Amino acid sequence: METVSSLAQLRQQVKQWRKQGLTIGFVPTMGNLHAGHLSLIDKAKQHADKVIASIFVNPLQFNDQIDLNAYPRTIEADIAQLTQTACDIVFVPDVATIYPEGMTKQSKITVPDIGDRLCGAHRPGHFDGVATVVTKLFNMALPDVAVFGEKDYQQLLLIKKLVHDLNMPIEIIGAETHREQNGLAMSSRNQYLSAIEQTTAAEIVQTLLEIKQRLEQGQGDFTAICEQAKQAIEQKGFEVDYIEICREADLMPAKSEDKALRILIAAQLGPARLIDNMACYLA
Ligand code: PAJ
Repeated sequence: METVSSLAQLRQQVKQWRKQGLTIGFVPTMGNLHAGHLSLIDKAKQHADKVIASIFVNPLQFNDQIDLNAYPRTIEADIAQLTQTACDIVFVPDVATIYPEGMTKQSKITVPDIGDRLCGAHRPGHFDGVATVVTKLFNMALPDVAVFGEKDYQQLLLIKKLVHDLNMPIEIIGAETHREQNGLAMSSRNQYLSAIEQTTAAEIVQTLLEIKQRLEQGQGDFTAICEQAKQAIEQKGFEVDYIEICREADLMPAKSEDKALRILIAAQLGPARLIDNMACYLA
């Protein structure tokens, strides 16, 4: 595996591969890699001849400077992990490579509707930052396919809409969420939690499972279900940003006749903002 930090070098390799007729799979990340990230590399390799991963902590998608500064940067360990995978190139640009004229002068991409709800409503500017950096990285890596985790389900749908709306010839593939033994979705933010908080954090997935069960039992008052779940989990020490039952296809609020649903939750536990989601298909 090669580590590349300059855009010229990346472009040269991509050009060579494309000339040879090889397909390219791409996995963008912000580093601090765990088994969930690594599974995306495997998935990309199943769909393409060559795999590029990127590691870039994107300042444009952080609406909180303290959060950005605290974000774990573990580049050497990340590269060591990636060498054990099918990754061919890891692209590690610096901020000046991605935003040479600075962030305020950067043209931005806004994905309407889906970008405004849920995490979009709670983290102003976040999804513009994600859509902008992913567009730039796509134009740098020129992939045929790109893999994103269902862990960030809203992000996955946002990227699918971005690619569709801007006619990018890239197939977006979703990959299932990797979890700790207690069910907690793996996340770089989990390490902000103490051992006790990590145990408590598993209440998030329990809450999703309980809501799913209630939906499957035919309970139809979505607002009441979410409100009760919110009260229950707040008693365990969480501060809830949202718990919502949405239509899986576009994350608009679900109606009683909808059958393909996603339950989504975002909540603060001590120092960490945790998000998770679960599919629910009604007969
Ligand atoms: P990051 O949080 O590093 O995540 C990189 C990719 O890994 C995303 O597609 C995310 O959904 C996926 N991922 C994270 N945790 C996972 C888990 N437990 N199981 C499976 N996949 C998981 O998401 C971002 O970075 C950034 O917003 C990015 C897309 C790189 C743009 O900056």
